[in-house]
Formats: sequence, C-alpha cells, structure tokens
Amino acid sequence: MTGHTGLIALLGAGRMGAALAAGWLKASRNRVDPARIVFIDPRLSEAARALAEANGVRCEAALTPALAGEVSDLVVAVKPAIVSKVLAPLNDSLPADALVVSIAAGVPLRTLGRALPGRPAVRAMPNTPGAIGKGVSVCVANEAADGADQRARAERLLKPAGPVEWVEDERLMDVVTAVSGSGPAYVFLFCEALAAAAEAEGLPRELAKTLAVRTVAGSGALLTSGQGDASELRRMVTSPGGTTQAGLDALMGGSGLPGLVRNAVAAAARRSRQLGSDS
Ligand SMILES: NC(=O)c1ccc[n+]([C@@H]2O[C@H](COP(=O)([O-])OP(=O)(O)OC[C@H]3O[C@@H](n4cnc5c(N)ncnc54)[C@H](OP(=O)(O)O)[C@@H]3O)[C@@H](O)[C@H]2O)c1
Repeated sequence: MTGHTGLIALLGAGRMGAALAAGWLKASRNRVDPARIVFIDPRLSEAARALAEANGVRCEAALTPALAGEVSDLVVAVKPAIVSKVLAPLNDSLPADALVVSIAAGVPLRTLGRALPGRPAVRAMPNTPGAIGKGVSVCVANEAADGADQRARAERLLKPAGPVEWVEDERLMDVVTAVSGSGPAYVFLFCEALAAAAEAEGLPRELAKTLAVRTVAGSGALLTSGQGDASELRRMVTSPGGTTQAGLDALMGGSGLPGLVRNAVAAAARRSRQLGSDS
C-alpha cells in the first residue's frame, strides 16, 4: 500500500495527458510536487520532454512492476483502443488502493475493472478545450472510488482541464460524450458556416473568417462571464424587428437550429452507446 502520496503515473503523455500535467505543475495553490510525477510514454513528444525537463519530472518508456508498486494515482491517457492491453500487465504490481483515473474516451468502468480488478477507478470525459484549460470534465466513479477522498483526488488531477462535474449513472456518459465531448466540433462547424455565409454575402475570405472566429470566441467568453445565461444574452442582443431578430427567425423557424442540434446530440449519443457495447 502506498497511501495517497505515492507516485502519480501519467500513462500516455500525449496532447491531453501533457496538458493535464502542465496544470499540475503550474498551479500556484496545490501544486503537485514534481518528484511525485512520472511520465510513462514510449515515444515522448518534444513538448512533454521539455515540460519534464523544466520541472525535473521523471520519464520512463514503460511502467515496470517496481515502479508500478510505488504508484498511488494512475492517470490513463493513452488512446482508448490500447487501454486494456496497457493496463492488464499492471495488475500484479499496482497497489490495491491505487486510484485509477482514465480519460480514455468511451472506455467503460467495466473495462478498467477487468484489467485492474478491485482498484478504485474514475472514468472521466474531458473535452478538447481542456487541452488549454478551458474545457469541462464529467466523471463517474466505481464503487471502490465512491468516497469523498477519492473524488477529491480525481478532481485535483482533472482540474487543469477545467471544472469537474460528476454523474452517478455511467449510462449518462453517452449523453455527456454527445454534448461536451462532441460539442466543440458542432461549434467549429457553426463557425465555419458563419464564415462561409459571410463570404457568400460579399466579405473577403480572411475578414469573413476573422469575424466568425472572434464572434464565436467572444460569445463563449461572455457566456462564462456571469452576465447572464444563453437565452438572457440572446434576448439582450435582439431588438424586436431588428436585424438579429431577422437572422434568428431564419435559424429558429421550421426544421431550424434547435431541432438540428437535438438530432445531432441524439445521433452522437446513439453512436456512443453502440461503440460502448462493442468494448
Ligand atoms: N485530446 C482531447 O481533447 C481529448 C478529449 C477527451 C478525451 N481524450 C482522451 O485522452 C486520451 C489521449 O488522447 P490524446 O489526444 O492526448 O492522444 P495522444 O496525443 O495520441 O496521446 C497518447 C499518448 O500515449 C502514448 N502511448 C502509446 N502507447 C503507449 C503505452 N503503451 N504506454 C504509454 N503511453 C503510450 C502515445 O504515443 P504515440 O503517439 O507514439 O503512440 C501518445 O504520446 C485518449 O484516450 C482520448 O480518448 C482526449
């Protein structure tokens, strides 16, 4: 047993894993001691290597049994397809109370439990903006990780990607995936469509792109500024009979944006359920 102050092993120091680790090391309050962190990645990226060197973090190509025996927190950030293969060999050496926090998209708690039976495990779904600290993560814990202490430890590891939310029913992770996981792509598509429409109405391509990007980014920032929720902000910028009203009427009428988004989320959740039942 390692208690709660053993090593934090980051299995897969790729885009998301390295971004989380950068947050652990940067935090002014609650900074994680670099001596507790070890990056496990057979082909460490330049960025991850630079981060490790700047902070004195140890790097290894694989989690050997001796090293695994010292781990108190295992953060699983490899591609979903290899999670089982990478975790199974650790079962003999990973301490029984080591907390497993997996961010592998779509990998269910039962897969983690099959590879590492009995360990407290948290399945987390961060999203792409999390790589720059602007995301949101949703978590579900298995029975062994259902205590306040394990949840607090998982939250501390995930916080660098953005706020952490919890669900009690793992089936909701399919909807979460369809909303916050796939959601950034919906917003990017909206941004592309806005730029294309601007160009079609006569704006030069670069200006069209700039206006679309700044409009989406600025509106996102306003949404999190505490000045009102989405519908309040929308009403604030819509005077009756004005230009915004004309645009919104086109977006909301008939089989408009709300219905399309409803269908998109339902389709993505359905696909997530299908993928989950295959694993
Ligand atoms: N990026 C996101 O926004 C995001 C959002 C939500 C969830 N996730 C989840 O986060 C996980 C990582 O995604 P990512 O975008 O960060 O992928 P990534 O950049 O490909 O990172 C995965 C890293 O794991 C390394 N790796 C491969 N085999 C390994 C092994 N046996 N042991 C240790 N490390 C190994 C990879 O090396 P090679 O490249 O050489 O194979 C790579 O550096 C995925 O499961 C994904 O579903 C990511």
